[in-house]
Amino acid sequence: MQGTCSCSGSIASLRGYQLQQRCRGSRVVTRRQCLRVQAAKTADGPSLAIVGVTGAVGQEFLRVLKERDFPYSNLKLLASARSAGRTVEWDGGSYTIEELTEQSFGDVDIALFSAGGSISKKFAPIASDAGCTVVDNSSAFRMSEGVPLVIPEVNPDALKGVSAGKGGIVANPNCSTIIALMAVTPLHRLAGVKRMVVSTYQAASGAGQAAMDELELQTREALDGKPITQNIFPFQYAFNLFSHNSPMTGNGYNEEEMKMVKETHKIWGEPDIAITATCIRVPIMRAHAESINLEFERDVSEEEALEALSKAAGVSIINDRAANRFPTPLDASNQDDVYVGRVRRDISRPDSRGLDLFVCGDQIKKGAALNAVQIAELLL
Ligand SMILES: NC(=O)c1ccc[n+]([C@@H]2O[C@H](COP(=O)([O-])OP(=O)(O)OC[C@H]3O[C@@H](n4cnc5c(N)ncnc54)[C@H](OP(=O)(O)O)[C@@H]3O)[C@@H](O)[C@H]2O)c1
Repeated sequence: MQGTCSCSGSIASLRGYQLQQRCRGSRVVTRRQCLRVQAAKTADGPSLAIVGVTGAVGQEFLRVLKERDFPYSNLKLLASARSAGRTVEWDGGSYTIEELTEQSFGDVDIALFSAGGSISKKFAPIASDAGCTVVDNSSAFRMSEGVPLVIPEVNPDALKGVSAGKGGIVANPNCSTIIALMAVTPLHRLAGVKRMVVSTYQAASGAGQAAMDELELQTREALDGKPITQNIFPFQYAFNLFSHNSPMTGNGYNEEEMKMVKETHKIWGEPDIAITATCIRVPIMRAHAESINLEFERDVSEEEALEALSKAAGVSIINDRAANRFPTPLDASNQDDVYVGRVRRDISRPDSRGLDLFVCGDQIKKGAALNAVQIAELLL
């Protein structure tokens, strides 16, 4: 069944950003999506696979595919041998999880991967060679030459020439990078970012289901005065915070911080923009927050910035100074949009070329599963 999109505006351009603005208010859609909002299971939809379906991102894939009525003719659920044989009820059907093997992809058009970098490194090329187009959530291929690194609202054109069932790998950016660039790209288009300084406050969900379970357990243990169980992080997580758990690199930055730098350069196609980041893990269950300081090519007023943000697809503003009400991780949890507030002139700059913002986004959703499904929509 082919339905209609709730956006009725004429489509003047194929560039995703402009289209998404027209469709704001319903959901982020592109021209191809406008033509096919429909019931999910359909004989002419692509055959889908989810790799890592039992994980935090894998479970979110299932929710997002349903929410967005993603069309599919067949769905294959893949995980490790530990999960093989388990049954999952989804979209009125019953699915048995299969063990991921080299033979998993012959009949699959699009595979959404979220089983970690080493699994992606081994199996994404195998899937691609079998004619399956891979959208990969891990960092394995993000910086590889020729692999598009895509945020659909920011650089949809990077997907040119890639489509479902033709093979190829598309990388989903790091969650902190996606959340930052959803907020900063509209401002970059407005006045050209010269330098970006980011401090993150990252939730447990970014480290997978086991980290979320550990935060919950430790919180109960701390409140009950019991010894703290530490399986995932080398620190007590409940009622504490610490530098991001990714490995250190040679320059004193950790890998998460360097991903924000390198991935932003690749996504914007501008390797000379100055970027520095400090990434911190905080005891929040879900949704990251980021404090972002920007220097622009020209002076930018708060009003101009808010106007640009208010028109941006996938961005919501909470910026009530009188009520001291700004975005929180709870506002962003389970939401598609990235929330922006505390938009203010950087008073340390005499030339009015600086702004500060505070941003919150659900990193399992927009930072991972939703962004990947939006990419898959562009492959149809
Ligand atoms: N969490 C986030 O917000 C986020 C954001 C962006 C990107 N990512 C990336 O997404 C990936 C998964 O993250 P996550 O947070 O969902 O992790 P997670 O909750 O730990 O889930 C890991 C998944 O990988 C599967 N897996 C592990 N070993 C496997 C194997 N040998 N063969 C097949 N499947 C295997 C697990 O299946 P079993 O249950 O069978 O072991 C599980 O489904 C990582 O690369 C992560 O960096 C995560």
